[in-house]
Parts: sequence; structure tokens; C-alpha cells
Amino acid sequence: MTQKNYLNLKFDNAHHLKKNYLCTLKHINIYTIKMKVAIVGASGAVGQEFLRILAERNFPIDELVLFGSQRSAGTKYTFRGKEYEVKLLQHNDDFKGVDIAFASAGASTSKEFAADITKYGAVMIDNSSAFRMDDDVPLVVPECNAEDALNRPRGIIANPNCTTIMMVVVLQPLENISHIKRIHVSSYQSASGAGAAAMAELEQQYKDIVDGNPVTVKKFPHQLAYNVIPQIDVFQPNGYTKEEMKMYNETRKIMHTDAKCSATCVRVSSLRSHSESVWIETEKPISVEEAQKAIAAAPGCTLVDDPANLVYPMPLETAGKDDVFVGRVRKDISDDNGLTLWLSGDQIRKGAALNAVQIAEYLIKVGNVK
Ligand SMILES: NC(=O)c1ccc[n+]([C@@H]2O[C@H](COP(=O)([O-])OP(=O)(O)OC[C@H]3O[C@@H](n4cnc5c(N)ncnc54)[C@H](OP(=O)(O)O)[C@@H]3O)[C@@H](O)[C@H]2O)c1
Repeated sequence: MTQKNYLNLKFDNAHHLKKNYLCTLKHINIYTIKMKVAIVGASGAVGQEFLRILAERNFPIDELVLFGSQRSAGTKYTFRGKEYEVKLLQHNDDFKGVDIAFASAGASTSKEFAADITKYGAVMIDNSSAFRMDDDVPLVVPECNAEDALNRPRGIIANPNCTTIMMVVVLQPLENISHIKRIHVSSYQSASGAGAAAMAELEQQYKDIVDGNPVTVKKFPHQLAYNVIPQIDVFQPNGYTKEEMKMYNETRKIMHTDAKCSATCVRVSSLRSHSESVWIETEKPISVEEAQKAIAAAPGCTLVDDPANLVYPMPLETAGKDDVFVGRVRKDISDDNGLTLWLSGDQIRKGAALNAVQIAEYLIKVGNVK
């Protein structure tokens, strides 16, 4: 068996074995309901993934409306064999009758248009950082805190930062064994985390280097091709970046925990899927076997941990998949209560569009959409 086949087999087996309540959604006939769904930012990396995921999961849509700025207004996208034209997002009544609006058009757009989007009762599931830390906006990862989505005074549910989503999905089953007191994490974030234009910039940089042309740098602080950049988002007064502070603050809000998280977020030149090296300190020691068993059984996680056969999760393997993949689980040799692991997952799927769709599926399942 080739290594690739072996990996696929492991992925498939884990999918069949795991007790995933999100999987059980597929067996519940929630799809007799029909919804009017809006995607704000349809042309973007996340917006395009929404279209794919909503189609794949047979989400109950009977009307779809796509929005964008002047740049993409008028562009047509195909969804389930039908063409839809992107409308210009404006301050008007376009969201009347919309049940669920998936927003992925950046924080300033979300802030500017939230009132228009929610005015007639649409649930706005927002991928930006605009409202994540607001007390009256739940910040939700269904594997951790699905019920928080039910309390949304402003009609807004925030989708967390992508790197944080993937980490908490893996930490939740370990927290269920013993309280996690401290987290140290270094991320290895792909170019697509900065959007569709950033992906294109990385590809163009490699091409320009090969062709002997000067390299253009717009979307990243430095050339990313053949490089790693230890900066994602802007620096804060405490020396951490905004992305790193999101991991600290959002982890605490999602997991309802006092855990302290120290992160170093790094941009690497993979195109898609973020990876993270995570170290945790728990109240009581957790054995490697206990951790592996809990992760393998946890919703949204797949264990891919066979270092003897060079098997561990990597972006090339995890891109385009739904789960967060975990390997290299080992005891920390510097701390009896420490555990170290490696994870990798598609941040445009579970880190963004898929998580938002799972929130919507949860609301439908519990009958909590207007
Ligand atoms: N990429 C990721 O891995 C990821 C993960 C988690 C969360 N997010 C978040 O998701 C959001 C979108 O990210 P992305 O990666 O998809 O970015 P992107 O590829 O750059 O796409 C941005 C989208 O926003 C739309 N937009 C921008 N300004 C607008 C305006 N004034 N009115 C209407 N639409 C507007 C753009 O439409 P036009 O083309 O018409 O300008 C485009 O569709 C961001 O908030 C990002 O932080 C991204």
C-alpha cells in the first residue's frame, strides 16, 4: 500500500468510527425546510467555499442571493446548476425575507452593513473579526459551544478566527479529560488565509522568480515565496500580533475557560490549510493513549498519528477536507502535565465556511431560525 493510500484509508476509517453529532445531522430530515440564504462576499476565497459547501451538504436553500462590492457586482456564479448574479451590497431592504446571511467580506463591511442585514430578522453568521469579542454576540464552534448560538440579541453569530477554530476543536476533547491551564502554539498559516488575491500573489511571486522578473509584494509584509514571515496582522503594544491575541481571547470565549494561550502566528508558503504546533499544560497528566483515543472519537477531529511510518497531517493532504487532522501526539519531556501535538486543517473550510454552515445546520436542527 502506498503512503497516500494508507493515509486515505486512515482518514476514511476515522470518519466511519467517530461519534460525530454533526454527521448525524445528515440523517435527520432537516431538509424539508426551505430557506432564503444570502452570501455577502461571494467572490472571495471564503465566499466561493460557501457555494461549494452549501451544495455538497444539500443545505435547504430555495432562494440564494449573492452580494459583493462594485468589483464583483454583476459576476455570475453557478450553484446547483443555476446561475446567480452578484448584487451590489447597499444600504437598502435587500435582506427582507432572508433567513440566514453568511457574511465574509471583511470587518469594516460587516460593521457597516450589519444593521441592514439583520433588520428583517435574518441571522447573520459573520466570518470577520468585527463582533467576535462583543458580549452580546456569541462566538461559536459547534463542537465546543453550539448552544451559545441560541442567545444572539443582535441577530449576529460570530465565526471565530480560523486558527483558533481548528485549535479548539482539538483541545475540547482534552479539556473534557483534564482542565487545560496553559497553551503555547505556533501556527504555520497558508497564503489563502489572507484571501483569494493573496493566494494569487504567492503563485505570481514563484512565477516571477522563475522567469527572472522582479517580485511584487502587496498582500504580505514581505516576499512570501521561498520564505516564512513571523507576522500575521498588525503588532499590538504587548509585542504580540492581533492574530495572536485573537487566539488568546477567542479561545477563552469559545471554551468558557480561563486557559492562557501564548501564540506565535507565522505565514508559510503553503497555499491552503493551516497547521499548528500546540503544547498544553493540564491540571492532571493526560497519557498519550488517552489523548489519542479522545481525539479520534471527537467530532470534527481525525487522528493521523503513525510517525514510525512517516504519517502525520500535512497541508497537502488536509486541504479540501472537513476535519482537523492531528498527529505527533507526545508527552512533553519538560513537564509531567504537558502534552504536545501537531494539527493541520483546511482553514477556508473548517476555519471559515464549514464552521459557519455547521452553525446554521445546528440552528435548523433545533428549530431556532425565524
Ligand atoms: N481566507 C481565510 O482563510 C479566512 C478564514 C477565516 C475567516 N476569514 C475572513 O473572511 C472574510 C473574507 O475573507 P476572504 O479570504 O474570503 O477574502 P477575499 O478573498 O479577499 O474576499 C473578500 C470578499 O469581500 C467582498 N467585499 C469586500 N468589500 C466589500 C464591500 N464593501 N461590499 C461587499 N462585499 C465586499 C469582496 O467582494 P468584491 O470581490 O466584490 O470586492 C470579496 O467577495 C474576512 O473577514 C476574513 O478575515 C477568512
